[in-house]
Amino acid sequence: MKPKRPAAPAPAAEEENLLELEAKYCSWGDTVHYAKELTMFSRSEGIYLYDEKGAQYLDLQMWYSAANFGYGNPRLNAALQRQMDTLPQLACQYLHKEKILLATKLARKMEAVFGEKGRVHFNVGGASAVEDAWKVVRIKTKKNLAFAFMGGYHGRTFGATSLTSSYRYREQYGHFGDRANFIPYPYCFRCPYGKTRDTCGLYCAQQFERLFETEYYGAVNKKGDSEFGAFFIEAVQGTGGYIVPPEGYFPAIKQVLDRHKILLVDDEIQMGFHRTGKFMALEHFGVKPDVVVMGKALTNGMNPISAIWAREELISPAVFPPGSTHSTFSSNTLGTAVALEAVRMMEEEDLEAQVMKRGAYFLARFRALAKKFPQMGDVDGLGLALRVEMCQRDGYTPNRALTDAMMNIGLSGTLTAGGKSKGLILDVGGYYKNVFTMAPSLYITEKEIDTAVDLFEEALQRGIAETE
Ligand SMILES: Cc1ncc(COP(=O)(O)O)c(C=O)c1O
Repeated sequence: MKPKRPAAPAPAAEEENLLELEAKYCSWGDTVHYAKELTMFSRSEGIYLYDEKGAQYLDLQMWYSAANFGYGNPRLNAALQRQMDTLPQLACQYLHKEKILLATKLARKMEAVFGEKGRVHFNVGGASAVEDAWKVVRIKTKKNLAFAFMGGYHGRTFGATSLTSSYRYREQYGHFGDRANFIPYPYCFRCPYGKTRDTCGLYCAQQFERLFETEYYGAVNKKGDSEFGAFFIEAVQGTGGYIVPPEGYFPAIKQVLDRHKILLVDDEIQMGFHRTGKFMALEHFGVKPDVVVMGKALTNGMNPISAIWAREELISPAVFPPGSTHSTFSSNTLGTAVALEAVRMMEEEDLEAQVMKRGAYFLARFRALAKKFPQMGDVDGLGLALRVEMCQRDGYTPNRALTDAMMNIGLSGTLTAGGKSKGLILDVGGYYKNVFTMAPSLYITEKEIDTAVDLFEEALQRGIAETE
């Protein structure tokens, strides 16, 4: 007979003053204290979070795109539960079938979309997988310098921060290795070269190409051999502000990389798994990667695992032998079981078409709202990766005060659009911290999108009243 699940313990006396305990005993070194007012949640379901008092918050960030398939997705939860009941723990040096099937499915999918055979290697968090990708690059190229984008984000371990442009993430710790050479991202709304998209002739890509024109620009020797091993990219820049690059940009860059034998590492941790419609965001741009890094939504945010896929030549046992990287929890049974179910679900559902349709509807609603509010300076997106850039009334000057005000109003849970008092979870990104980077559940309905836009409008009106 199966043992009965034990009842939840009664709340301990300390639960009376949790925020005081947090202030005293939790490190403040994570991102919790970015917020002015701390909100504590106790339940999640579908597109909603619920706070301690039961108030409902419509979530437009879904754990930075880690919970793409909705909170408490019944199919994925059931897969986790099944694994809990069979093989919940197993040292990663032994095999279990979910790991093998997951790697097989991912590798076959990559072959289908990018036309290259390869293998999959697991780890736990996104930053660790970025570092694994870095190892694969170094083994092949013997180079320890890389290009990465200004505004890019690849995580906060030592290696990953050297590929992430913000000095802030390195400032207190110094350099552990060489930091990347940061190249301007094609951010057309605020073109770093002061050009406009329609007439620029991809000037930014031309500038990248120029780096290789003569040895005196510091990228190649006389023979054209590059000092750089890889270019780490996000096909759609995530934390930098959900910026969608112009057509033709990545193919132009890739030609230069190929000419100089520089590998392309595609970080899909935030944009992968249909966030932009396609399985991987880079598929939109007609370019083949050498290495792909995955994380977040692979397990819908449960029992995290991350992974890299690399072309066979880069990751075959001959070049990447046993022990090349290892973590105790890297291909844990619970994570691989959920991820396997998630990948099966993605195969069975026509998510690309659905996400493109829902994204187009969301974007149209936001664009209509932007006609009323010049403060919504740029509204753009790809699939369900959406951006709204908050500006002054001139529609261009970044307006961080309004962005912060709206985020805090959303978090206060006091919006009333649609009747009952509600909250709205908005995430802020962008170079000037004035961009709402929106990653709603991939299953959000049109009705829910309408509610989200109404709540957003109310937060905007209240934010304007507070800040103007
Ligand atoms: C593109 C990208 N790469 C890497 C990371 C780091 O992943 P993790 O936070 O799981 O280490 C993130 C996290 O936001 C990300 O968005």
